[in-house]
Amino acid sequence: MSEQQSPSTPAVSGEVAAPYGTGSAPAAAAPIKRIRTHHLAEMKQRGEKVTMLTAYDMYTAEIFDEAGIELLLVGDSASNNVLGNETSLPITVDELLPLTRAVSKTAKRAMVVGDLPFGSYQASPEQAYLTAVRFMKEGGAHCVKLEGGAEMAPVITKLVQGGIPVMAHIGFTPQSEHTLGGYRIQGRGAGAEKVLADARAVQEAGAFAVVMEMVPADVAEQVSKELDILTIGIGAGVGCDGQVLVWTDAFGIRSGRMPKFVKQYADVRSVLLEGAKAYAADVKGGTFPDAEHSF
Ligand code: KIV
Repeated sequence: MSEQQSPSTPAVSGEVAAPYGTGSAPAAAAPIKRIRTHHLAEMKQRGEKVTMLTAYDMYTAEIFDEAGIELLLVGDSASNNVLGNETSLPITVDELLPLTRAVSKTAKRAMVVGDLPFGSYQASPEQAYLTAVRFMKEGGAHCVKLEGGAEMAPVITKLVQGGIPVMAHIGFTPQSEHTLGGYRIQGRGAGAEKVLADARAVQEAGAFAVVMEMVPADVAEQVSKELDILTIGIGAGVGCDGQVLVWTDAFGIRSGRMPKFVKQYADVRSVLLEGAKAYAADVKGGTFPDAEHSF
């Protein structure tokens, strides 16, 4: 895949791109071409916040990449945002892979995160490795995300030893909603110790980053200060090293009640609705296509 830099994408740090034999001028720090795990680690060290959004198709990938979003997550939330399911549980590897491929073929700069669906990695480290390899080979992902804390340590280690960067996901883990008793904040009171222990365990196992979902802000901040690896919050307050939102929530294509942690930055649904209504009116009124749009 070509590593081109969009003119509008912001520089994060210098990855020197000096080919052999191009003269004696000192290599200048160039804008990075592809976000890699070491860039994210450097951003944490500098105190520079990291951005992540979900993307499930080529155009959102293109737009979010152009906006300079560092991480594009082809989340299993595609299940209930693309495929019409009620939750993230039903989506399969075979359904998620083509979406992952569309995003990875399009994003020039962002790191693409493949999300391992429910049931595709929990059985054993071997099962997880074989699934993760599919996301890297067939999906073109640059890393994978999986849900779970200390209990997933052997899986994380296996993947990392096999050359696959792993982003963990702790706190509220949607794939375990039936075990957790629904969408509930994790880590309140005595539960804070479990969040801390899970965070330490996934770092120890080799994860390069950890998503914390629906965790009290003070607990997430404590984890972020203690850990060397990147923390990415969703409903976990401002103390995390980065933030992630599901794009259909953040840009208002989805209607209905939103979780408290969602801020709506655009109203794409209204734009599409008005466009579709105007098109229907033109067609029904016989004003489209007009001479300008006919041969
Ligand atoms: O699948 C997804 O969208 C996620 C985010 C909620 C982090 O896992």
